[in-house]
Amino acid sequence: MPEISPILPSPEERFYRNKLEFTFSNRRWLSPEEMESDEIISNKNGLGFHIPGMFDKVIDIEDCHLQASPSNEVRLAVRSFALKNNWPFFDLKAQEGFLRTLIIRTSSTGESMVIVVFYHDDKNKRELLFEHLIKKFPDVTSWMYVINEKANDTITDLKVHLFSGRDHIFEEMEGLKFKIGPKSFYQTNSLQAYNLYKVVRGFAGLTGNETVYDLYTGTGTIANFIAHKARKVIGIEYIPEAIQNAEENSELNGISNTRFLAGDMKDLLTHDLFEKEGFPDVLITDPPRAGMHEDVVRTILNAAPEKVVYVSCNSATQARDINLLDARYKVSALQPVDMFPHTHHVENVALLERK
Ligand SMILES: C[S@@+](CC[C@H](N)C(=O)[O-])C[C@H]1O[C@@H](n2cnc3c(N)ncnc32)[C@H](O)[C@@H]1O
Repeated sequence: MPEISPILPSPEERFYRNKLEFTFSNRRWLSPEEMESDEIISNKNGLGFHIPGMFDKVIDIEDCHLQASPSNEVRLAVRSFALKNNWPFFDLKAQEGFLRTLIIRTSSTGESMVIVVFYHDDKNKRELLFEHLIKKFPDVTSWMYVINEKANDTITDLKVHLFSGRDHIFEEMEGLKFKIGPKSFYQTNSLQAYNLYKVVRGFAGLTGNETVYDLYTGTGTIANFIAHKARKVIGIEYIPEAIQNAEENSELNGISNTRFLAGDMKDLLTHDLFEKEGFPDVLITDPPRAGMHEDVVRTILNAAPEKVVYVSCNSATQARDINLLDARYKVSALQPVDMFPHTHHVENVALLERK
């Protein structure tokens, strides 16, 4: 086993996130001081984060140190406009109210996207809110909204409407542009994502002749990032919209040696696919927290690429999978990367070389 390199620190310890979702609640979490005081608390509305383990309690936030400007300013403006107009913040238990969540995305190019999620549609109120915000923040790139009448907060299965501006923003890396829509996945710490991808590229050690597979490619960021160093890159991912973004990102950057496939990894990654698209010389894998399905590990073992670069956000499942790959691979380098300062999470990159 190689020595584990020191954790690569994040360039920013604060304001490092490019995406945050704040929740409106009419029953905000009260501090111990507020609970003990004799004063009657009339305003229990809050806009902020859930208290861990308490789905219906939200901590109201005055100053958030996680996301750069205009995140704080926009959140406070939305909150004060809603309070001034007496619009009901969502009641998570009774499932009623008007304002549900506020999603803000920012990018290192200075662009930003604001998505307001309403429980029901009210054209008049919606226009009042957006017109107020647009006047106050003319530099925001994209103003969007969602009507969510479901019990849960996810918007992945809902239509996102454009109120004004563009329906996407751009992230940039080494001159490559990545298009980010309201539902697109993008690593949340943009600057550190760049460092992570450089580690991956370094471990892959490409010369320009390799067939590379990028498993769990998301919107194809790694695939596009390394494409100019490979003969061909095949990215696989099960969310079809993400694959569409990946293809758009190749096109946007004039990259023609990538190919993206949508489907479940264990069904798509087969011997037949390798016969068709080429056997991998290098395989990059970046699975979700659950790690790789056993069938996927078996397919990798059979195809036996020279190198496997394994990126993981869950060291426990990574260790489990590496143990299975041990039959043919030795671990030759390990580089943890701090993507989420002030949390216990760490991304770990392992280079496995064929024995
Ligand atoms: C950690 S993310 C990968 C991020 C990507 N490499 C990047 O840097 O932007 C894991 C991805 O795996 C996808 N995924 C999860 N389970 C999958 C499966 N069974 N088959 C294919 N893709 C899957 C998720 O949709 C997600 O996009």
